[in-house]
Amino acid sequence: MQKTSKLGKKHTPLIIGNWKMNPSTLQKAQLLFIDVKKTTSKKNAIAEVVIAPPFVYLTELQKISKNTRAALCAQDVSFEKEGAHTGEVSLSMLKSVGVSYVIIGHSERRAQGETNEEILKKTQATLKDGLIAVVCVGEKVRDAQGDYFSFVESQLKSMVKEIPKAHLKRLVIAYEPIWTIGTSTHATAEDVQEMKLFIQKVIADSLGRSMVSKIRIIYGGSVNSENAADLLEVGGADGFLIGGASLKPKDFTSIILIADIYAKA
Ligand code: PGA
Repeated sequence: MQKTSKLGKKHTPLIIGNWKMNPSTLQKAQLLFIDVKKTTSKKNAIAEVVIAPPFVYLTELQKISKNTRAALCAQDVSFEKEGAHTGEVSLSMLKSVGVSYVIIGHSERRAQGETNEEILKKTQATLKDGLIAVVCVGEKVRDAQGDYFSFVESQLKSMVKEIPKAHLKRLVIAYEPIWTIGTSTHATAEDVQEMKLFIQKVIADSLGRSMVSKIRIIYGGSVNSENAADLLEVGGADGFLIGGASLKPKDFTSIILIADIYAKA
């Protein structure tokens, strides 16, 4: 979008609801999606709103996503094209049911053993196929020495250099410090601002300054309607990856409206 600050170009806020393994039935998922649909259909809606439901709900949600600005996202993907990969889902399958975003390397998947190497392959395949890759990075804990910076740097460096420059505009980095996920503790706006600047430095050092504005850096970890404005305005987050609050229609709607107001300012 238009304006710039010390944190760089102001992008249209990207608000992603990561439903994880919720809700428990298709019917509940449809109801939840209809709430999002209402908010994003408002005349002056601006934020880019994306919903990441469990795989099994995608096809049905695609049917009700017609004429809405809410896009569909997968929570993971295989880098393989087809074949003997029990339990896996390919990019062509996702595209055929209207998915245009993929979350890659969420800490809950990394905890299941997903490696930086696999995350890179998934990211490369996703971007090559024209989808938007939302790649999660973030430290487990914060230490007084600041080692968490080098941890995030190692997660990023193993990836950004290996992505063709032409694909970088479809890369979104989600900074999700693990100590904030699913808790009531979010990173402060100052923490987010500091990490965003650090990530931008890693991108500039690896790829050149001109690439910084192409890559959106969003924040995830206990985002709610109380902290969202501060995280956008002071933290400089280009949007959010939201777990718990995305399952609460009132909260999620408020966050989208906050993002719309921020975008207009
Ligand atoms: P949370 O989850 O908003 O519930 O902390 C965020 C995430 O895991 O993406």
